[in-house]
Amino acid sequence: MKDFIAGLPKCELHLHIEGTLEPELKFELARRNGLRLPYPGVEQMRAAYTFDSLPSFLRIYYEGMRVLCTEPDFYDLAMAYLRKAAEQNVRYAEIFFDPQAHTSRGVPFDVVIRGLRRALMDAEARLGVRAQLIMCFLRDFQAEYAMATLLESLPYKEWIAGVGLDSDEKGNPPVKFAAVYERARQEGYLLTMHCDVDQDDAVEHIRQAVEDIGVNRIDHGVNILEDQRLVEVVLERGMGLTCCPISNGYVTDSMKAEAIRKLMDLGVRITVSSDDPAYFGAYVGENLEALQSVLQLTRDELARLERDAFEIAWLPRHVKDAYL
Ligand code: HPA
Ligand code: ZN
Repeated sequence: MKDFIAGLPKCELHLHIEGTLEPELKFELARRNGLRLPYPGVEQMRAAYTFDSLPSFLRIYYEGMRVLCTEPDFYDLAMAYLRKAAEQNVRYAEIFFDPQAHTSRGVPFDVVIRGLRRALMDAEARLGVRAQLIMCFLRDFQAEYAMATLLESLPYKEWIAGVGLDSDEKGNPPVKFAAVYERARQEGYLLTMHCDVDQDDAVEHIRQAVEDIGVNRIDHGVNILEDQRLVEVVLERGMGLTCCPISNGYVTDSMKAEAIRKLMDLGVRITVSSDDPAYFGAYVGENLEALQSVLQLTRDELARLERDAFEIAWLPRHVKDAYL
């Protein structure tokens, strides 16, 4: 099964590029930028990755990205992920980036996106991995800052497939960003957002995302099982959920494998991704292996997860068909 999973052509749709920053690269970038890290070495840094909730993860995630300062830093970050993706037979990836986590530290939007974009172009040419960017707004910042970021992105619209929403969900419901999402839609962006697992008001947040905002898909979203009517809406629209089993195990009490199984059985388009692989110690291949071993997924079911991923990918029909 391990070999089958390794050989499966993969499509990764839920991956935060800042969450791919491995400790080794963190140390290299800190040295390059003359910054000191609060750990003596890679081992001690990894040992500090002990999260048991979304906020406890986010604290370390934001602290870690302080070393990302220049265009080459963002290039190296994305190129390292895309090399790893190519090794795992990822053929196509949609990559989240958090511009406000950088602009709020004084790193210009232009520096962030140019570095990432250059890596995507090089990876396609040299590694045969195709990728697109999804710009995420930080939901624990004000909606006005998200709107300003959206406007700042418009000159780079051709480089961005769509928008997402991440960071701390508590007290930050989807409707807080209704005007931002409406404008994003008018500008031609596709729409997704995190409805993280087992958060307060999880089902109401999913309802808002689906009915009030009208997202094209949902990141995580497994609590939808608690509302049969919403499951039916998602089925009718052919929407997909991007699930991240090992991430779930870090921010909640379990991988939520049984919920994922149930959603697959109901016919919902489910995909498996890695979320923040440098922090959760697992890229997409390891996520598929973990889910397979708990659910005893068959080869056909594993292939279906990847087919569903390409099916809900933000690609033109003829490009998807070439992968399927
Ligand atoms: N949830 C919310 N915000 C995030 C995540 C996540 O899984 N990863 C990086 N930022
Ligand atoms: Zn995520």
